[in-house]
Amino acid sequence: MASLAFEKALTETAAGVERTLDHLLPRPQGPEARVIEAMRYGALNGGKRFRAFLAHQGAKLFAMDDERSLRLAAAIECVHAYSLVHDDLPCMDDDDMRRGKPSVHRAFDEATAVLAGDALLTLAFEILADPATHEDARVRADLVLGLSRAAGALGMVGGQMIDMASAGEDLAIGPLTRMHQLKTGALIAFSCEGGAILGHASPSARQALHAYAHDLGLAYQIADDLLDEAGDSAALGKTAGKDKSQGKATFLTILGEERARAQASLLADQAVAHLEMFDDRADILREAASFVINRRA
Ligand code: IPE
Ligand code: IPE
Ligand code: MG
Ligand code: MG
Ligand code: MG
Repeated sequence: MASLAFEKALTETAAGVERTLDHLLPRPQGPEARVIEAMRYGALNGGKRFRAFLAHQGAKLFAMDDERSLRLAAAIECVHAYSLVHDDLPCMDDDDMRRGKPSVHRAFDEATAVLAGDALLTLAFEILADPATHEDARVRADLVLGLSRAAGALGMVGGQMIDMASAGEDLAIGPLTRMHQLKTGALIAFSCEGGAILGHASPSARQALHAYAHDLGLAYQIADDLLDEAGDSAALGKTAGKDKSQGKATFLTILGEERARAQASLLADQAVAHLEMFDDRADILREAASFVINRRA
């Protein structure tokens, strides 16, 4: 059971990032209005906002103000929302439901979904490069560098490529772990590290947060695989059972449920061990580790 303080922090960050996204996303107007409507549809009103939470809490450790850390959180959620819009496309996972609503290509059309994803990705970098995110241009450049690496061919996109290419194949545990680290772990690792970058953290503090979130990111995707198998579509807000029907290699197919759960739990413990240098201000991040493996959606 998550503590009241944890639930409150997660809800407050979600509300804060929602306001920030609403403010930063363009307003639909002119002949291009449709793509903006689709961007707003894909990015607003939804999701656990867990990456936003990590960025916000990471920055809080270094006493950053909410306004700036919520801009970082909003940029990361734009990249995440884009990844989901494209992940759901017929040429990828072909999913009709996302966050309890028709996925973007179902509510709009495929071309609009591709373009809305593209525009969410570029908006993320526009947000980070804006002086309102940080007055120090080196900090902004560091954030842009970190997010591009996490999102690109050696990060999320690379992981998605392996995911698509290996459907119907048996992956060994090593390559599967790497796929999960890339497709999900990289952006989650950057989320927490981004908070440290924003807060001018020391290299060791920054590294510790990266290591924490790196382990947590892998546990997060193992939990996603477990939920795909055992959860129900209504609670998940997306179609359950997709991985099996598409022959995706997951921790479940390779290790079986019990060992997959044990692995997620080991990773959560390992993640927490990286926080040793931080005092009780990191307790909320410690609790996030159990949230990740016990979540129901
Ligand atoms: C779903 O992510 C896709 C993964 C990378 C596991 P989330 O489970 O964080 O999705 P939302 O943002 O809460 O909808
Ligand atoms: C998606 O993994 C990871 C992304 C980078 C979007 P999944 O394909 O398992 O995500 P869901 O289950 O559709 O949310
Ligand atoms: Mg996928
Ligand atoms: Mg999918
Ligand atoms: Mg999944």
